Amino acid sequence: MKVTLADYSGFCFGVEKAITTTFEELDHKDKSQKIFSLGPLIHNVQVVKELEERGVMVTEDIGSIQEGSVIIRSHGVPKSVYETADKMTLTLIDATCPFVKRIQTIVEEYYKKGYAIAIIGNPQHPEVIGINGWCDNKALIIQEEKEVENVPDVDKLCIVVQTTMSIAQFEKISAVLEKKARLVTKFNTICSATKQRQKAAKDLAEKVDAMIVIGGYHSSNTQKLVSICNDIRPEATFHVETSKDLPVEALKQYDLVGVTAGASTPKWVINEIIQKLRNI
Ligand code: F3S
Repeated sequence: MKVTLADYSGFCFGVEKAITTTFEELDHKDKSQKIFSLGPLIHNVQVVKELEERGVMVTEDIGSIQEGSVIIRSHGVPKSVYETADKMTLTLIDATCPFVKRIQTIVEEYYKKGYAIAIIGNPQHPEVIGINGWCDNKALIIQEEKEVENVPDVDKLCIVVQTTMSIAQFEKISAVLEKKARLVTKFNTICSATKQRQKAAKDLAEKVDAMIVIGGYHSSNTQKLVSICNDIRPEATFHVETSKDLPVEALKQYDLVGVTAGASTPKWVINEIIQKLRNI
């Protein structure tokens, strides 16, 4: 079996930055200092466990923290979290990815200018929940084209998109959404890491017999990679989190296997899976 790894697999720049910032903070903290992460730092069980062992406590609610430092992960948070931290004199370690920060800034600016805000993305995803918190939670959040029917007509509309959405989905939904307003300002805020990763996965899927997509089962950017590969290799795309999930028997029939990985996947997980594939 020949195994090829797609370009731009594994940690993206935003996740790398969040992890480096957190570990630097842990190296310098004194023993009495408490460090919290608002939600798990990344979608990777092993990394979250290691952080826990080093004293990072995961909480979903900033209101439950009395003292210490709070890490904001790369997904970002609503504006109210900054206000709460300020009131409670908590130290913020802000690891919001610059691509997400840019969306929050756009949304805040256009909301203040009187635009209705539309976010194309998953309403349950922390990044989208965070962005919505920069326009008083008034954004129209659209995940599927059919939901646009329920969107009321507005005068001015600002459209942004979750950083990890697929370009095809963004174009399809925004084209229909644009008809709902007299004046539209549209920003393609899909991050460059996502675009590169999706393109590399698509290119590789076209050249191989089967694709392995590595990443958390709940990771949004990994799910998008699965869907892109599935479109090209519907019978031969396999989503795995660790080497234990590899469907060894099913893979024996393939000569050329491609591998890609979501933005929260550590290098050692990718290497372990490639090694196991090569031994098949
Ligand atoms: Fe940032 Fe894009 Fe990664 S938004 S966290 S660089 S997937």
